[in-house]
Amino acid sequence: MTAAPTHPRTDAAFWDRLADKYSRQPVANPEAFERKIAITRAQMAADAVVLDIGCGTGSLALRLAPSAAHVHGLDVSSEMIRIAQGKARDQHVDNVTFHVGAFDDGFTAIADGSLDGVCAYSLLHLVDDRPAALARMHRLLKPGGFFVSSTVCLGESWAPLGPLLTVMRWLGKAPRVTVLSKATLDREVRDAGFVDVEAPDVGAGPTIAFMVAHKRA
Ligand SMILES: C[S@@+](CC[C@H](N)C(=O)[O-])C[C@H]1O[C@@H](n2cnc3c(N)ncnc32)[C@H](O)[C@@H]1O
Repeated sequence: MTAAPTHPRTDAAFWDRLADKYSRQPVANPEAFERKIAITRAQMAADAVVLDIGCGTGSLALRLAPSAAHVHGLDVSSEMIRIAQGKARDQHVDNVTFHVGAFDDGFTAIADGSLDGVCAYSLLHLVDDRPAALARMHRLLKPGGFFVSSTVCLGESWAPLGPLLTVMRWLGKAPRVTVLSKATLDREVRDAGFVDVEAPDVGAGPTIAFMVAHKRA
């Protein structure tokens, strides 16, 4: 594990407090999760090196590990990573490295142009500067590398919720959440340089944007 300084704007303390409960919660939509994993795995060759950003307690990283040469999991919450490492030990998975750090705050453990894939499940609606984060994800990939994301997109009709979410964040009851639309996210992903942008229907419901895209080969 590598440790990097965390920044309050990433809500590390909020996620630390939630980690234990999060790890015990069943996956909200198991069928959709299995479809997302299958689609992600289908992008991977056996020698793939993949980064799962906002990996939480490692559910995705540990499922991808048998199909990859190496999986890196990154999370701003040291508690989430502690639980993920425990799961890796219990499951005897030795090709996953978990890192503590904020992706958008100087994460340098992985070199640009070195990854075959980047995953961001339930993350992009939480980051401060999505265009910068997407550009960084794009830079980390080798030419032809894949990007898979699953993002809560509440859409414009939920915009009035914004002030309530801000108050809940002040009270420590919610992380920073951006109310964004699927169209906005799609445009930002393309603006970051990704091509072949697709949104396969995984049955995750109308407020989840599941996307697969690539860095130009
Ligand atoms: C909703 S959870 C999703 C966890 C996991 N990807 C999943 O799908 O179950 C969001 C995770 O992203 C992490 N996170 C939030 N902002 C982050 C950032 N800027 N850099 C790294 N991790 C972050 C949180 O600590 C939390 O574990």
